[in-house]
Amino acid sequence: MSDPLTPYGNRPMVTPIVHAVNYEYRDFEVLRKITDGEIDGYTYHRDDNPTVRAVEKRIAQMEFAEDCIVCTSGMAACTLVYLTYLKTGDHLILFNDIYGANYKVSLILERLGVEVTWLDADQSSRLDDCIKPNTAMVFLETPSNPLCKVIDIKAARRAVDKVGALLVVDNTFATPFHQNPLKLGAHLVVHSATKALGGHNDLMAGAVAGSKQDYTRLWFTRQAIGCTLDAYSASLLERGLKTFPLRAGRMSENAIKVARFLQKQPSVSRLSYPGLEDHPGHKTAKQQMHGGFGGLLSFDVGGSENDAKRFISSLKLIYHAVSLGCTESLICIPFLTTMLYLPPERRMTFGVNRNTVRLSVGIEDYGLIIEDVMQALGKAGGSTVRKKAENKE
Ligand SMILES: Cc1ncc(COP(=O)(O)O)c(C=O)c1O
Repeated sequence: MSDPLTPYGNRPMVTPIVHAVNYEYRDFEVLRKITDGEIDGYTYHRDDNPTVRAVEKRIAQMEFAEDCIVCTSGMAACTLVYLTYLKTGDHLILFNDIYGANYKVSLILERLGVEVTWLDADQSSRLDDCIKPNTAMVFLETPSNPLCKVIDIKAARRAVDKVGALLVVDNTFATPFHQNPLKLGAHLVVHSATKALGGHNDLMAGAVAGSKQDYTRLWFTRQAIGCTLDAYSASLLERGLKTFPLRAGRMSENAIKVARFLQKQPSVSRLSYPGLEDHPGHKTAKQQMHGGFGGLLSFDVGGSENDAKRFISSLKLIYHAVSLGCTESLICIPFLTTMLYLPPERRMTFGVNRNTVRLSVGIEDYGLIIEDVMQALGKAGGSTVRKKAENKE
């Protein structure tokens, strides 16, 4: 029987959205071969779906991985990794600077008997000292969320190799356009594909890329817990991936220009962008990133939360919203948003202040972004705000 979509072998330009949840079995032998993994085929959506499989293959290629598994969100991807590779009695090292919801997952893992150590990205040179015989995984983000701190991936690999632990890198901030952790020694790379890979604020997805063996292990967990992405979101993601390199390039070109502008603003302090020469991680970022330094930056506005709020409320082009890596520029105060996942006493321990803002630079004309920031800084109090804050210190 010829494929009704390609009767003459002329493939559609877009992977069809296959909404089917279950598939008819042609015969028992085919069913056996599919379930034994001898042939590619589909039986039930929780197991696999052709639209999903198409994006998995694309992301694997982008991350120089043998394969990739896609699931319902970035946090589902992180959780798949923890559940697949950790067991009671294992030791997990996490960085304070990773996306806040990982903290909540760490509480669940502790309840299941996993020992968790937290480190600041600033102290990544201490990683060696924190490795123990039962260390099974180090999970890090570089650049980190929200302060854009940089961790040396090759050095982290040397540290985990001492005990044969797994190195997992969340590459959401850097994106595969600028950084390929697997090439630098990571065992697995994780993405919130909700962000730059999708890129249009209209889908949630997560991805984990690694070896074929990793794919099989992660697939087991995904099939068991049922966080397979739906076909429609997979199709949106496929569409996003087609323009991803153009968007990622434009975002980082814009971001460095915005960062250089912010450097000169008296009401801006603690500006963090890995592309700036004075960023503490610039040298490492230059070694492990390529084609730019991404679209994310963070900075403090004035001297108080109200200064930051006034600044954000005065913006006209840049949206006050969470998420990042999308076509539009987005800004938020992490202390009041993404860090709500953390208990209050932990929120300020690794350098995020109440007036720290995180800016995800979009693909708009950079002149318009800078104009917007300039007019809003003026309304937030301009240089007088900073001077008052300095006098208090
Ligand atoms: C670096 C990073 N990893 C993971 C996640 C979680 O992704 P999702 O919101 O798709 O679950 C986020 C969300 O902002 C993130 O910024």
